[in-house]
Parts: sequence; structure tokens; C-alpha cells
Amino acid sequence: MKKVLVLAAVVCATSIFAADGASLFKTCATCHGQKAEKSALNKSQIIAGWSSDKVVAALNGYKDGTYGGAMKMTMTGQAKALDAEKMKALGDYIATLK
Ligand code: HEC
Repeated sequence: MKKVLVLAAVVCATSIFAADGASLFKTCATCHGQKAEKSALNKSQIIAGWSSDKVVAALNGYKDGTYGGAMKMTMTGQAKALDAEKMKALGDYIATLK
């Protein structure tokens, strides 16, 4: 019985997590495209299909100023609004986009 409960909890947590990434990404879609298929403001790399780790590393870099190109100020504001959990949810979601 205990095992079933633990499993149910894991499944629930996973689906909430995934939904969270999708809803968080709505803000990003304005610039990056619904499926992250666009070059944001014609400046960014296309991030669809990036691994979760790569997205999180880029976001952390924007947050602490160690990553980015000419338009990094655009992303600094976005990244500062995100904590580690939200970055991970976004990374996991973006990694599913093709
Ligand atoms: C106002 C438009 C805008 C919004 C909204 C936006 N971005 Fe960006 N994003 C950009 C631009 C422009 C760049 C390229 C910045 C640079 O020069 O480094 C970029 C770069 C990135 C990169 C790195 C790609 C690269 O070229 O190295 C990632 C990852 C990223 N954004 C994720 C996100 C996520 C996740 C969100 C939502 C929380 C988001 N962005 C919201 C405009 C935007």
C-alpha cells in the first residue's frame, strides 16, 4: 500500500511540474516563439531542443551576468524573476520542444 501511495505522489508531482514549465514558458513565448522555434528579437540562438541543463546554465548565467551576447540585458530581467525550481521546470519543458 505504501508503495502505491509513493508512486501516486511521484506521478502527481511530475505532472504538476510539467504543467508549471509549460505555463512559465508562456512569458518566454512572446519572444522565443510558442515552441521556442524562433530567434528571439532576431538575436538569440534557437533554444528548442536545448537540454534542460543547457537552458538552466544559460539562465543562471544571465542572472549573475556571466553569460550572454549583445542583448543579454533583455534576459537579465527574465532570469532574475526565476528561482532554481522554475529554471529547472522551464529547462525540462524546453527540452521537450522540437
Ligand atoms: C523580451 C523578449 C524575451 C523574452 C520575454 C525572453 N527572452 Fe530569452 N532571449 C531574448 C534575447 C534577445 C536573447 C539573446 C540575448 C543575448 O544576446 O545573449 C535571449 C536568450 C535566451 C537564451 C539563451 C540563448 C542564446 O542565444 O544564448 C535562453 C536559454 C533564453 N533566452 C530563455 C528564455 C526563457 C526561459 C524565457 C522565459 C522565462 C525567456 N528567454 C524570455 C529575448 C527574450
